[in-house]
Amino acid sequence: MPVLQVKGLSKVYGQGQNKVKALNHIHLTVEQGEFVAIMGTSGCGKSTLLNMISGLDKYDEGEVLISGENIKGYSDYELTLLRREKIGFIFQFFNLIPVLSVIENVTLPAMLNNKNQKGLEKKAVDLLNLVGLGSFIQSKPTLLSGGQQQRVAIARALINEPELILADEPTGSLDSKTSKEMMRILQQFCSQFNHTLVLVTHDANVAAYANRVVFMSDGKIVDTLHLSNSVLENQEKVRIISSKVEGLGI
Ligand SMILES: Nc1ncnc2c1ncn2[C@@H]1O[C@H](COP(=O)(O)OP(=O)(O)OP(=O)(O)O)[C@@H](O)[C@H]1O
Ligand SMILES: [Mg+2]
Repeated sequence: MPVLQVKGLSKVYGQGQNKVKALNHIHLTVEQGEFVAIMGTSGCGKSTLLNMISGLDKYDEGEVLISGENIKGYSDYELTLLRREKIGFIFQFFNLIPVLSVIENVTLPAMLNNKNQKGLEKKAVDLLNLVGLGSFIQSKPTLLSGGQQQRVAIARALINEPELILADEPTGSLDSKTSKEMMRILQQFCSQFNHTLVLVTHDANVAAYANRVVFMSDGKIVDTLHLSNSVLENQEKVRIISSKVEGLGI
């Protein structure tokens, strides 16, 4: 069963003259272990799509199924539980809590989730070692570089072993070298642990790590590139993605 099914999803913001069709009949299916990148110009609806998938905002038409579970009609409480138990988030600005240590930031989503208390500390330490932050466990996040903070955020997103990871421009505030390191870590998690990732990016270098790139314009999916099983070198993928972006004018 696919981890994510989006069927005919539409969303309109505002009323009258201020009406904006942020999503216009989006269809998207993501299988377990897949890494899908979403690209498109500013305002084309990428963040709106992630917000609808995670139930952070209500859609007008269509359906969202997470591992076959249709979230239509879910109460705010049910949506909160869904996010806590099944979805991991990575944001552009890390959103770490400055007064908590690195390990406390990572364990926080699991503390809120009664099911995941067992062996929690060890799990967090293991994750922090995997992202290369084993020696910063007790540090405050404000003492870390942007790339290190984003690696803490990756560990935090994975602590509840989410069925789906959503990332909205996770490399948007990182330099190119750091964003490369981060993408390698994310890609490794997907292939090694069969994690499923939907990631929004403006950067062809980031999208080149995905199995599939979906291009959006004006609330619609206008094209898709399949990169899985591809023997192409990374630079060749970047070139193909960039020329697609140029060709589509997005
Ligand atoms: N809460 C909201 N209220 C009103 N309009 C909104 C709201 N959120 C988004 N929009 C509008 O919906 C459209 C899609 O916005 P969205 O944030 O999804 O774009 P985006 O593709 O993520 O852009 P960016 O690359 O700049 O982050 C835009 O026209 C935006 O102004
Ligand atoms: Mg956005």
